[in-house]
Amino acid sequence: MSELRFAGKTALVTGGSRGIGRAICHRLAAEGAEILLHYHQDEKAAREVAGASPHFRLFQADLAHPAEIDRLITALGDTRLDFLINNAGVWLPSPVGETTVERMDRILDTNLKGPFWLVNRALPLLNTGARIINISSVAAKTGVAGGRSLYGASKAALESLTRNWALELAPRGILVNAVEPGYLATDMTAAHFRDPAVLRRAIDRHPLGRMSTPEDVADVVAFLCSDDARFITGQSLNVSGGFVI
Ligand SMILES: NC(=O)c1ccc[n+]([C@@H]2O[C@H](COP(=O)([O-])OP(=O)(O)OC[C@H]3O[C@@H](n4cnc5c(N)ncnc54)[C@H](OP(=O)(O)O)[C@@H]3O)[C@@H](O)[C@H]2O)c1
Repeated sequence: MSELRFAGKTALVTGGSRGIGRAICHRLAAEGAEILLHYHQDEKAAREVAGASPHFRLFQADLAHPAEIDRLITALGDTRLDFLINNAGVWLPSPVGETTVERMDRILDTNLKGPFWLVNRALPLLNTGARIINISSVAAKTGVAGGRSLYGASKAALESLTRNWALELAPRGILVNAVEPGYLATDMTAAHFRDPAVLRRAIDRHPLGRMSTPEDVADVVAFLCSDDARFITGQSLNVSGGFVI
């Protein structure tokens, strides 16, 4: 079997400049995909992910704003997409009784409305048989300590979109799935895990003895993009190493 399973395929990866998004970019590129790397604030980091590879194109947008998504779609021009990976997100606290309207908007605009509008606008660009993969979280189905109800709600809603889009887009042969990481040590959780005791407790809650890595998640995204996953749609795949079962 050829190692370059994704040669000739094009992937748009949101939030590709760091963390899980960066690992997804590298994983799909390693198998031959052309990567449309979306980034938000850090062009330098995005350039570092792309390196000298001719198979990367960079696109900047704040996905919390529909007008910015429209600008991104315009920049894509007549590009055809095989994989759309909705990865960009924020993990902000929203304690009940203390949350502002601005905080609520920031979480929902980024984690829920962003993917919704991007998929709506990208539909004409998606090839038959394309894959949409939404990076959700185990928080979609469980309570999370630390006052992050809106984060969990945004991911639960993203999973609802996943199931409904799977039905709506099946006639075009487009498969839609979600991936649910558990805890990862990325920039997103860096402040949370600065306390070694908190980090230790998180590791101890993993039956497999370690937290997830971005590569654990990226490998599952690659599987869902592959022909091996051709009959999987509308699913949310837990990639938490038993952290949440
Ligand atoms: N880390 C975990 O433990 C964990 C667990 C479960 C699920 N997840 C999910 O996995 C995904 C990636 O997380 P990560 O750990 O890789 O986080 P990360 O390192 O903090 O990266 C988040 C990415 O999202 C982008 N982003 C945030 N707001 C944006 C906006 N308004 N417009 C466009 N892009 C925006 C960021 O770009 P800028 O920095 O430039 O804003 C960054 O590239 C998220 O959806 C997250 O919810 C993470």
